[in-house]
Amino acid sequence: MFVEGKVALVTGGAGEIGCAIALQMIDGGARVALVDSNAEAVRAVALRLGDAASWHVCDVGDERSMQEAVTAAEAAHGRLDIGILNAGITYARKPLVDFDAASFDRIMAVNARGVFLGLKYLFPAIRRQGGGSVVVTSSTEGLRGNAGLAPYSASKHAVIALAKTAAIEWAEHNIRVNCINPGPVDTAMMRSLEEAAISAGTPDIREKGVSIIPMKRFATPEEIAKFARFLASEDASYSTGASYLLDGGMLAGKMAMESR
Ligand SMILES: NC(=O)c1ccc[n+]([C@@H]2O[C@H](COP(=O)([O-])OP(=O)(O)OC[C@H]3O[C@@H](n4cnc5c(N)ncnc54)[C@H](O)[C@@H]3O)[C@@H](O)[C@H]2O)c1
Repeated sequence: MFVEGKVALVTGGAGEIGCAIALQMIDGGARVALVDSNAEAVRAVALRLGDAASWHVCDVGDERSMQEAVTAAEAAHGRLDIGILNAGITYARKPLVDFDAASFDRIMAVNARGVFLGLKYLFPAIRRQGGGSVVVTSSTEGLRGNAGLAPYSASKHAVIALAKTAAIEWAEHNIRVNCINPGPVDTAMMRSLEEAAISAGTPDIREKGVSIIPMKRFATPEEIAKFARFLASEDASYSTGASYLLDGGMLAGKMAMESR
């Protein structure tokens, strides 16, 4: 994979998918700037990854914080070639009418505004290298409605629009922008959704979730990370403005209502 010598900024770098992507990047000879709002966790992950990793505490939804993180990451490594805009949050499922506006705003601030700001401030840094690529973590929920996940689904649709727009605008600058759309991945985010469902009286939530996936299992963070590294690399040199499902066939098969 052609990421050797490159530097990748990874938001949500302390989380399970972000950390797995950082590991894949380092394995391919890149260096990484981990960006996350969880100071303790991002520091611990960076220390574990060693000299190839720097860490930057940042709220991706806060403009000044995001701008400072990009500046600090570029200063730490001397360049930025790749952006992995992956930080994200969700809340336990509930009907749209039961979400308060503050929860909607918070999800949009992290998941959508965070990607907007990441794209905005990465652009000049990547352009200084003569080009590069950005991979945005959307979701299967960015491609469909799903009862109980209105704000999350809205935010994941929004990032696809941002990525497509940036891809069109930046093609002339040799910067590719693509989305990955994972289905369920076995991480803290998924486990917290499952715990909430179990507390709400659905003890077999995992079995129900798996039952609508033709491959009959959730993804591992490593499976998502390997694809993200491919998409970020020059091996994917003709792909831009695209969304890639990593869902074990879920959206090719049964639909979401049956998993609940
Ligand atoms: N786990 C899944 O099933 C799944 C499926 C599809 C898409 N995704 C997406 O993948 C991405 C990574 O999720 P994950 O499963 O690794 O979750 P995770 O909870 O393990 O990691 C998310 C990371 O984002 C960080 N973060 C949260 N708010 C932030 C903020 N304001 N600024 C900076 N960092 C912030 C958290 O501290 C955490 O380290 C998310 O965008 C998520 O929506 C996850």
